[in-house]
Amino acid sequence: MLINHLHPKFGISIENIKITKLNEEQKFQLINLFEQYSLIIIRNQNIKNEDQINFTKIFGKLEITKPGTLGSNSNLVILTNLDEFGNVVDTSHKQSKNDKANQQWHSDSSFKIIPAQASILSGKQIPSEGGNTEFVSMRVVYENLDQELKDKINNLKAIHHFAHSRSKIDKNLVSKIEYEKFPPVIQPLIKINPKNKKRALYFGSHTVHIKDMQPNESVNLLNYLNEFATEDRFIYSHKWKKNDLLIWDNRAIIHRGKNYNPKQARYLVRTTVEDTSSVAQYLNEKR
Ligand code: OGA
Ligand code: MN
Repeated sequence: MLINHLHPKFGISIENIKITKLNEEQKFQLINLFEQYSLIIIRNQNIKNEDQINFTKIFGKLEITKPGTLGSNSNLVILTNLDEFGNVVDTSHKQSKNDKANQQWHSDSSFKIIPAQASILSGKQIPSEGGNTEFVSMRVVYENLDQELKDKINNLKAIHHFAHSRSKIDKNLVSKIEYEKFPPVIQPLIKINPKNKKRALYFGSHTVHIKDMQPNESVNLLNYLNEFATEDRFIYSHKWKKNDLLIWDNRAIIHRGKNYNPKQARYLVRTTVEDTSSVAQYLNEKR
C-alpha cells in the first residue's frame, strides 16, 4: 500500500488499492492503519452500495440507519440535497437542515447508547464550490492540553442528546419518534482506545453539558475545549472528488461538513460501524 500523510499528526491517503479486491493481509493492514491514523482517504473507488457494506464489515457490526434520516432501516445513510425526483431541495427542506446540522463539529452517533466506531463515506456527486468535510483528531488535541487540565477532566462524563444538536438549527427539526427513541445518554469525556490505549477528547454538537458540574462551569469548560480543539492547526480539510472513499474513527475524530453552493447537487453515502466496546448509559435510568 502506498501511503501519504494528510496532516502531520493524523490521517493518511492510500493509493493503489481497490476496496472490492482486498486480501486478508491488506484488510489486516487497513485495520492497523485505521487504529493508528484515525482517518483514511482512498480515491477512485467507484463502488456500489453493496460493495461499501461488504467493505464496512471488515471494521465491525453495521449500524441500522435511524428514523428521520434518509436510508432509515437500511445500513446506509444518504447525505444529499436531492429529493426523490433528483431535484435540488430548498434550504427550508429537512434534508438541507440536516446538512446544516452536520456542519457543526460532531462525532457520529455520540447521542446513541451504542455510539459509532468507523464511519465510511463515499462521494457520489460533489459540488464544485465548497462542501469540504473537515476533521480534527481529538487524540492530538488531548495530547496538546496542559497536564493540569488533563488531570481535571480525565474522569468527567458528559450528557449527549440528539435533540440538542438539532435544536441549534431548528427547534422543530427533531421528530417525535427521534425524540422518543434517543433520550439523553452519558458518555465519557475522554475515550480510551481499547487496543492502543490512546486517549481522545470526546464531545461535539450532541454534547449538552458536563455531568455533575455547575452549569456555568460546564459551559466555560466546553467552550474552552471546543475553541482549543478547532484551532486551524488541528484541522484537516478534505476537498472531495467523485468516488473518494473516506474512513474515520469516531472514537478519535470529530468532523463537520462545510457550506456549498445550495444550487449544486451533493450526494454522499455513509455506512457506520457500531462501537460495541463503549456502550453508554441512559441519563434517566427508568428505561
Ligand atoms: C457524515 C457527515 C459531513 C459532510 O457523513 O457523518 O457528517 O460533509 N458528513 O456531509
Ligand atoms: Mn457526521
